[in-house]
Amino acid sequence: MSKKSVVPVPSSATHATMNGPGNSVCPPPPFGNTSRSSNKIRDVRRMFSRAAPRYDLMNRIMSMGRDDSWRRFAIEEAKFPQGSLILDLGTGTGGMARSVARLVSGSRVIGVDICSALMALARVKQGVENVRWLLGDGGHLPFSSNRFDGAVAAFSLRNMPDVPQALSELYRVIVPGGKAVILDLVKPEGGLCGIIFNLQMGHIVPALGRMFGSNPEAYSYLPESIKSFYSSAELREALRSHGFKELLFRELMFKTVAVCIAEK
Ligand SMILES: C[S@@+](CC[C@H](N)C(=O)[O-])C[C@H]1O[C@@H](n2cnc3c(N)ncnc32)[C@H](O)[C@@H]1O
Repeated sequence: MSKKSVVPVPSSATHATMNGPGNSVCPPPPFGNTSRSSNKIRDVRRMFSRAAPRYDLMNRIMSMGRDDSWRRFAIEEAKFPQGSLILDLGTGTGGMARSVARLVSGSRVIGVDICSALMALARVKQGVENVRWLLGDGGHLPFSSNRFDGAVAAFSLRNMPDVPQALSELYRVIVPGGKAVILDLVKPEGGLCGIIFNLQMGHIVPALGRMFGSNPEAYSYLPESIKSFYSSAELREALRSHGFKELLFRELMFKTVAVCIAEK
């Protein structure tokens, strides 16, 4: 789908720039308000910038070619209304944003990320006209409240320095009745899935990272980011405690991947 709709510049986007295809991104805004969170943002941005050249390839390899079908599944299950304005939080190379733009008729999508290197790739890939890219921090979104009809966050929430703060922001910018889709890797709760996780993250992922990745550091960061993130049960509870009502929860890939669709 290639609808010629224009995404309006958010009224409160004072420190960020809307970037159409081919435009350059603005310098990083002053993210966060604590030195701990701005240090983490700086480190995460640097790591993803280094991993950018092979980011999509590594996603395909590590998910055994499943990542795009998980994104599609999550979007289809969310059943966003036609013509929705959707936020893609932590858009990266824009895979989720482009899928929303193609699957949700008449939609307009704003992809937000701290990493201009990944969004530069998103811009090159573009392929749809109803997506715009914006530098911004998920912990301090540059949008007024109730701005979006819905939001998606694929594999991004886990990387935010303050996940509860990012969930509060996600909740704030969606209209009442709007849906949020969270797709992420979750901490296993033991048992066989825990064994598979330890094997995958302790051996397979670092080996694949060394073989194919442009930045091995990123593949030791990955298991750490999962261990310090939520388990499935904790993710559901976190969404509930932020005021979201759960509509759908699925675990995929030996319970290492969670899809959650929740309503404000
Ligand atoms: C694993 S990538 C996922 C990218 C994309 N959503 C996908 O499905 O492939 C995580 C993304 O989250 C972004 N990110 C990390 N912290 C962020 C923050 N505080 N605000 C916005 N984006 C952030 C990273 O720069 C990176 O692009």
